[in-house]
Order: sequence, then C-alpha cells, then structure tokens
Amino acid sequence: MRTYNVGYLIGSLARGSINRKLANAMIRLAPPPLRFTEIGYADLPLYSYDYDGNFPEAAHRFKRSIESSDAILIVTPEYNRSIPGCLKNAIDWASRPSGSNSFRHIPSGVIGTSPGAIGTAVGQQHLRSILGFLNSPQMNSPEAYIRYHDGLIDANGDIADESTAAFLRRYLDEFLLFITRVLTVLPRER
Ligand code: FNR
Repeated sequence: MRTYNVGYLIGSLARGSINRKLANAMIRLAPPPLRFTEIGYADLPLYSYDYDGNFPEAAHRFKRSIESSDAILIVTPEYNRSIPGCLKNAIDWASRPSGSNSFRHIPSGVIGTSPGAIGTAVGQQHLRSILGFLNSPQMNSPEAYIRYHDGLIDANGDIADESTAAFLRRYLDEFLLFITRVLTVLPRER
C-alpha cells in the first residue's frame, strides 16, 4: 500500500485554537495511507524581500518541510473575512525567493472551522486564490466549512456527532483519491 505524507498547517497561533482541535480530531478519521505531520511556523519572522539573499534557518526548515511532503492540508480560521496574517506570512516565506516556490505542484486541500454561520467560507476562497497562484493543484470538492459549537469535539478530542465525522471521513477519502490521482498522472520531480 502506497502511503502519502501529508504536511498540515494550522492557520492560527492561538493556544486554544479550534482549528487545531479540528485537525487533531480529523486525523484520527483518516484512511491509513494518509500520514499526517504538522508543519509549524510560529518561529518565522515577518517576511520581507530583504531576507531573500539570506533566508533564516527557520524559513529554510519551513520550506523543506513543505517540499518533502506529498501533499499539504491547510486547516484555517477566517479572520476578518480572509486568512489570518500569520498564515499568509508563512505562505509568503514558502513562495520565495523568486523561482523557488515551495508549493509548486504540491497537491493541497483546505478546510476550516469557525463559530460563524459560514464556517470560514470567505477565508477559504482567499486561500484558494493564493494556492492557485502558487501553482498547487487543489482538491475542488468537497468543500468543508465546519461550523464550530460547544460539544462538536468531545473531551477525548474526537468529533462528537456522527454526521460531522462521516462528512470528514468522506472529505479525507476524497483527499486520498485526489492526491493519488495527481501524483499518479505525473509524479512530482524532487
Ligand atoms: C475572528 N473570527 C471570525 N470568524 C468568522 O467566522 N469570520 C471572521 O471574519 C472572523 N474574524 C475574526 C477576526 C479576528 C482578528 C479574530 C481573532 C477572530 C472569530 C474566529 O472564528 C474565532 O476566534 C475562532 O476561534 C478562530 O479560530 P482559532 O484561531 O481558534 O483556530
């Protein structure tokens, strides 16, 4: 059985991030070929192209983590109808220096949760636009806008209600098929 290493990014630096809780719960529902590793980025400074000739070690490490992943999953909140600045900053680091965009050709998926009625839908559209520009093939469907509420995730960190768990399983099954399709048609050069 071919396995795929999925690096995942949480679009929040908050200690109690509900998106991290969602990520941890959903990983437990993933089909066995998907192996998840969080790619942290809290140690990245604010990007400027002044760094382009001399990237800090944290940025090299971040870029290597993305490039060595078979696929990327981004689990993000919506801040002010867009993605949080910390996530955009991290993506900007990964996209540079010019000509060394780490997301190029890496299949990706996006998902997010918020207590708001539209469950990160607008933020995710912005993220899709960014990933498109970075030439990352994206899973189009299913979209996943998870409305967060108390009790969605139980004290053990599992999704408490079966319909959300079933939806997340389907999302992950489709993600596996998507990754397989993208990497089978044309395996990535490294
Ligand atoms: C928010 N929140 C929010 N929610 C939403 O659905 N749409 C939005 O545009 C915003 N905007 C926003 C801006 C800022 C600066 C903050 C701090 C929060 C609420 C947000 O969904 C909630 O705080 C979540 O808990 C954020 O997810 P994490 O960080 O807990 O994973």
